[in-house]
Amino acid sequence: MASDLVRLARELPKAELHLHIEGTLEPELMFQLARRNGVKLPYESVDEVRRAYVFSNLQSFLDIYYAGCGVLLREQDFYDLTWAYLERASADGVRHAEIFFDPQTHTDRGVAFETVITGIHRAVHDARDRLNITSGLILCFLRHLSGDAAMHTLSEALPYAEWLIGVGLDSSEVGNPPRKFRDVYARARDVGLLPVAHAGEEGPPEYISDALDVLQVKRIDHGVRCLEDARLVGRLVEEQVPLTVCPLSNVKLRVFPDLKQHNLKRMLDRGLLVTVNSDDPAYFGGYVGENFSQTAQALMLNAGDLTRLARNSFQAAFLPQDQKQKYLHEITSVAGQSSVKTIS
Ligand code: HPA
Ligand code: ZN
Repeated sequence: MASDLVRLARELPKAELHLHIEGTLEPELMFQLARRNGVKLPYESVDEVRRAYVFSNLQSFLDIYYAGCGVLLREQDFYDLTWAYLERASADGVRHAEIFFDPQTHTDRGVAFETVITGIHRAVHDARDRLNITSGLILCFLRHLSGDAAMHTLSEALPYAEWLIGVGLDSSEVGNPPRKFRDVYARARDVGLLPVAHAGEEGPPEYISDALDVLQVKRIDHGVRCLEDARLVGRLVEEQVPLTVCPLSNVKLRVFPDLKQHNLKRMLDRGLLVTVNSDDPAYFGGYVGENFSQTAQALMLNAGDLTRLARNSFQAAFLPQDQKQKYLHEITSVAGQSSVKTIS
């Protein structure tokens, strides 16, 4: 039974909507790029890197994550990073990925915006034909930096706007509320970019309301703290605002003490439009298939829950309606062929 659920988790067509490309840098690739670029790492071995991935909160992770990005220098590095993710995602049944990238992490080290986006875009383009996976790119502003810095980054991105689907907000949440980025989001919306934002991961439920009201976001990334505010939950259910939840990330960053205590099942049962995603899989111990199957086991999800999560991922995706329908039909067909009973 458990192995049937794991197989179903992998075989269901899925959209991944919360994935930081810099968070897919596996230690092996980190060493390879360090050698290729003559960068000295503060680690002696891949094992030592993995042993360092013990985090006490979001900031303790971000410190290591930004340091790891130091090996990414050339266009080919960004290509290799993105290609490696897309290969893994495709093997996990991901058919569409909406990928975050953090340009400021690179431009602040002297890497040109063009280098970053051209490498990522080239891999995304190749993967559409060779791996049968489509992708969209979401430019994230680092919320520990200023609104002006975000505006400057947006202006650098405008020549490449056709390669982007949206803008997002990540990095240190507490103390950096959504309203700090009101102006840059208004500008991004004006040029047709779809707004999303991390909110309610470590920050309070008010940050979720603020992201909706001030930034006018179409999805909330994480959002797990919404359950602390019953009125907010009512609104999120009523408006069917998608929440891109990342269970393994939440455990690694101590938002929940362990997977069994995660509130994903309660969110699903409350009627929230939740999806399951991997966030920074190289750092948090699993890609989207692992997030599905480990969460299913810990929270005793059934095949109906897994199918609902897969359906939600396409409902929440920035895809045209006809493509969503195509994937939803495929899900119905995969779930129908599964030997695991589907109750939905
Ligand atoms: N939260 C905030 N910022 C991030 C994350 C996250 O989970 N991953 C990468 N940047
Ligand atoms: Zn994230």
